[in-house]
Amino acid sequence: MSTLSLIHNTPLIFLDKISAGLSGKICAKAEHMQPGGSVKDRAAYQIILDAYENGSLKRGQTVVEMTSGNMGAGLALVCRQFGNPFVAVMSEGNSPERLKILQVFGAEVILTKQVDGLPGMVTGADIALAVDVAKDIAQNRNAFYADQFNNPSCIRAHFNHTGPEILRELADIDVFMASVGSGGTFIGTAKYLKSINPGIKCIAVEPEKAAILKTGRVDEPKHIIQGTAYGLIPPHWDEKLADDFITVSDQEVMDMKKCLSADQGLYVGYSAGANVLAAKKFLMEQAKPLNIVTILCDSGYKYSD
Ligand SMILES: Cc1ncc(COP(=O)(O)O)c(C=O)c1O
Repeated sequence: MSTLSLIHNTPLIFLDKISAGLSGKICAKAEHMQPGGSVKDRAAYQIILDAYENGSLKRGQTVVEMTSGNMGAGLALVCRQFGNPFVAVMSEGNSPERLKILQVFGAEVILTKQVDGLPGMVTGADIALAVDVAKDIAQNRNAFYADQFNNPSCIRAHFNHTGPEILRELADIDVFMASVGSGGTFIGTAKYLKSINPGIKCIAVEPEKAAILKTGRVDEPKHIIQGTAYGLIPPHWDEKLADDFITVSDQEVMDMKKCLSADQGLYVGYSAGANVLAAKKFLMEQAKPLNIVTILCDSGYKYSD
């Protein structure tokens, strides 16, 4: 078995403690168990496979990407397996744990200043600066720029794998929900699920004051759901895929993150907390039992608390 064969096929976990007392089930894909510790391993692997196939990446060529940490960890480990050097450009607002993880996986890391965010709260403007720096480096080093926000491989990864894996394990899924960063997870999975059963409801999860997909507005760009909701509409966003939106506050997300570790035994990150919280809020309002699937996007070990 190779390291790369550990990517995909994560368990779908029934969150019995979180669903307790509710009619219906909340299940979650344990993406924190991927080798790079997050859902982004899937997109990283697909980006590199597709780039080799379409000739845009050669053996030994450097790969560059702007990352909030998770895509970087995925690309670092995938690139190392293929023998491509990897440069990660990251806002210094991401947690120090993320920097360490990138370095551990063998990435060269370049940190960019925060424009208007705070430590632990990376904004769209912070990301825009990191993207500019990453593009410059890619050009100067004649490197392949992975471009997660615009690269359709990120969507293909979830259309080809996450969606089919979910249906294989829970054929009677009623609702899928996920928070949105580049949008690859939500768009690819929702597209697949709806292609098989258009009745499956797909719901996007957003911070309450940066719910741009729901409201078109960002009232407060700073929030704790790292890796998601950068105050921009992802380039591949398709509003037909989102049947609804659920918004969550920082405090509620922190509480649910704690609950997931203390009660359910799953030490996961903030976006996982947001997703499970949204699933619980939704289920509490339903008159009939429903099967909800969501994503445990990354590990709690990637954060300082
Ligand atoms: C912790 C975390 N959660 C959720 C996401 C969102 O995933 P996607 O980019 O597929 O929308 C990311 C993306 O980097 C992430 O790092």
